[in-house]
Amino acid sequence: MNTVPWWQRGIIYQIYPRSFQDANGDGVGDLPGILRRLDYLAWLGVDAIWLSPIYPSPMADFGYDVSNYTDVHPLFGTMDDFDALLEAAHARGIRVILDLVPNHTSDQHPWFLESRSSRHNSKRDWYIWRDPAPDGGPPNNWLSLFGGPAWTYDEQTGQYYLHSFLAQQPDLNWHNPEVREAIFNVMRFWLDKGVDGFRVDVADRFIKDPCLRNNPRNPDWREGMLPVEQFLEAYNKNYADNHLTARWLRAVADEYDDRVLIGEIYLPIPELVTYYGTPEAPEYHIPYNFTLITTPWEAEAVRCVVDLFEGRVPSWAWPNWVLGNHDRSRVASRVGREQARVAMMLLLTLRGTPTIYYGDELGMEDVPIPPDRVQDPLEKNIPGMGLGRDPERTPMQWDTSPNAGFCPPDVEPWLPLSEAYHTVNVAVQREQPNSMLNMTRTLIHLRRSSKALAVGDYFPCETPAGVFAYTREAGAERYLIALNFTGEPQAWTLPPAWKHAHPVLSTFMDRPEAVQCGTIHLRPNEGLILERRQHNS
Ligand code: NOJ
Repeated sequence: MNTVPWWQRGIIYQIYPRSFQDANGDGVGDLPGILRRLDYLAWLGVDAIWLSPIYPSPMADFGYDVSNYTDVHPLFGTMDDFDALLEAAHARGIRVILDLVPNHTSDQHPWFLESRSSRHNSKRDWYIWRDPAPDGGPPNNWLSLFGGPAWTYDEQTGQYYLHSFLAQQPDLNWHNPEVREAIFNVMRFWLDKGVDGFRVDVADRFIKDPCLRNNPRNPDWREGMLPVEQFLEAYNKNYADNHLTARWLRAVADEYDDRVLIGEIYLPIPELVTYYGTPEAPEYHIPYNFTLITTPWEAEAVRCVVDLFEGRVPSWAWPNWVLGNHDRSRVASRVGREQARVAMMLLLTLRGTPTIYYGDELGMEDVPIPPDRVQDPLEKNIPGMGLGRDPERTPMQWDTSPNAGFCPPDVEPWLPLSEAYHTVNVAVQREQPNSMLNMTRTLIHLRRSSKALAVGDYFPCETPAGVFAYTREAGAERYLIALNFTGEPQAWTLPPAWKHAHPVLSTFMDRPEAVQCGTIHLRPNEGLILERRQHNS
């Protein structure tokens, strides 16, 4: 397995730094806090951590508005703290992936301050400036994902600038070679330090139509859909030339050994897989595959996307799966507590690099946020549609002490803690043999110790409705994974070769007599892994 790159055989764990561990007592997580928890991550068994942005930022979008790409926000610590974290992670065999945000900067970034200072400034063209339309309005009909037009008028210079997100997040002009070189140098700065790769923010939006044509109206738009969905984003998302940006970033990553490039790309599978590029012109190692988040939680629907992705990933490339992140409702809230275990077994037994969102290993759920504690600008700009992302960004639940061990008892954490933290926390679940945490850890260790589960082939099985089953195979090693997506018991006559297989792991963390006379009996909401050895005689 050691010949397989680490990012293929490994498991990625996403940390939202504001919410993982507060070490300096200000109610916000930081780098020394992450350092303090590295032994937990090593115990859990993950191979890499991806940190959401840690750079200086006015925090209009909680770090996705970067005002200096090559430093650390004082809220999170210092560059020395970062170096210490990197070294300590590497000492434990844990890689570190940073978030790269090249589509936009903060409006407080010196590049933008210069750019907006005058039409003749040398950095004017680093951003996308246009004259008003004849009626004085925005240059075209593009909308911001965070509400309102994607254009803001600048009184001083009499032009509009483009922003795909907040007005405080102006889009860089990727048609300008100086911009590209500046971002490449940012990458080199961190790669020289030994960072193991980047998760690249909104990787499908960097290059837009140079003519800035209007987007067509979406004929299917209805009340209740997102405002931005009123138009089909033909000219500002997944624009054909955007693939160039993926190749450029990849070429920089490939100047170094063994680094990974992950693209955040919300596209249907057929378009998503084009972001692998080709063997001659590779793009992202991992174009993030969010279909387990966006697909209804039913066995047939999930099998359908797994098979579609399996069928579309180029043979030279490698799949990946994501169950949750800082932008989407938590998996335990989306699918329910019981199914969250099934979902984790699915994630950790599919073919493809799994990414676990912090706290999902405990079954953390979305936390209701009282109106006066709302932080997310998306919720503030487009209220009432349930778009706010604070519920999935609440502090990690470490133990039963006040504030769950995230920050000191007398400090208010930046977001409220889940009321469930007294039982749903690391300390309690470590002691419970059948907890979600111990189940996740057992799955991780099983995957890490098995070639079939880590890098083996995937074959789907025919099953009764409500069950999704597949095998993972490498050499003589064979696993069968059977997942009951329903709240009813399920019986399934196993394929003949599996008649004498033995159960290895149940999501209930016990060992029932699951297979009797060639029939597997799954309890409601149970996932089960069976093993057999192939005899070639
Ligand atoms: C995607 C990030 O995941 C999200 O949190 C952020 O708000 C937008 N990109 C804008 O950077």
